[in-house]
Amino acid sequence: MRILHFGDIHFWQLGLDADFYYPKRVLGTANLWLRRRHRFPPQLARDAAAAVLAEAADAVIFSGDMSTMSREQEFAEAARAFAPMVEKWGERFFAIPGNHDRYTPRSVRLGGYERHFPYAAFGAGERVRTADLGGLRVVGFDASRPYRVRSNGLLDQALEDELDGVLAAGGTQVLVGHFPFAYPGGAEGKWDHKLLGDERLAALVGRHRPPLYLHGHKHHRWALRDPRAPETLCVNCGPAGMASPDPAKHAGWVLIEVGADGTPAALTACHLGAGGEVLRAPLAIPERSSNP
Ligand SMILES: [Fe+2]
Ligand SMILES: [Fe+2]
Repeated sequence: MRILHFGDIHFWQLGLDADFYYPKRVLGTANLWLRRRHRFPPQLARDAAAAVLAEAADAVIFSGDMSTMSREQEFAEAARAFAPMVEKWGERFFAIPGNHDRYTPRSVRLGGYERHFPYAAFGAGERVRTADLGGLRVVGFDASRPYRVRSNGLLDQALEDELDGVLAAGGTQVLVGHFPFAYPGGAEGKWDHKLLGDERLAALVGRHRPPLYLHGHKHHRWALRDPRAPETLCVNCGPAGMASPDPAKHAGWVLIEVGADGTPAALTACHLGAGGEVLRAPLAIPERSSNP
């Protein structure tokens, strides 16, 4: 079975919201105006979505950051881009939100994510969802919440307990979150960008040992194992909407061939070439207990 994993497509629209005074929105708008709009060309995100739609895959998983500032127009454009994927893959299209989709308290309250992506909404009071993607048991969780300035997520006790309960049922092949808990070379995540409680996520994954943990957030395509959870291959799909001279950071996605028990057999890193063509390269699956 082939899984297509993408994320961080980051559709954006400049504009003024009622919570324009929220510190991160002020900073985010300035950053978008000065820098981010050049790094996330709108047409690139649209091209990536079209290329994802054309891929042959049995299931598609999006690991968060549809939007840039949780603006209504951003969600609407992402929903339009995802609609033909939902049509093509039906219940085998699985998505969770990222920190940019939980940008401000007001945007969370207004429920734009839930309105535009009803198929990716969580049950009342829940932050964990499960799905059967054609015999593949997938568990996704939402660790994103608004912070006044920073881009963190939080694995709090309630979310850890909820995840523990769902994973205890066993048989989970793929765990999907937005944030990494491990970085290449065993590096630490940046204090203002990491998942707070990432060491607890590492321990939780180590306890339940799903064959795959899929995430994004750090805009860099990679696959690694962490000594705290050596049975689990962590895959970062890289951004689908960012432009970079580095192929591992340029708009793309990852294809994952998995066996019936969810064991990953082969990975392919894909990114868009200058002419819009899809460039593919094998991504090595590291041995257990190694993190190069
Ligand atoms: Fe992102
Ligand atoms: Fe993110």
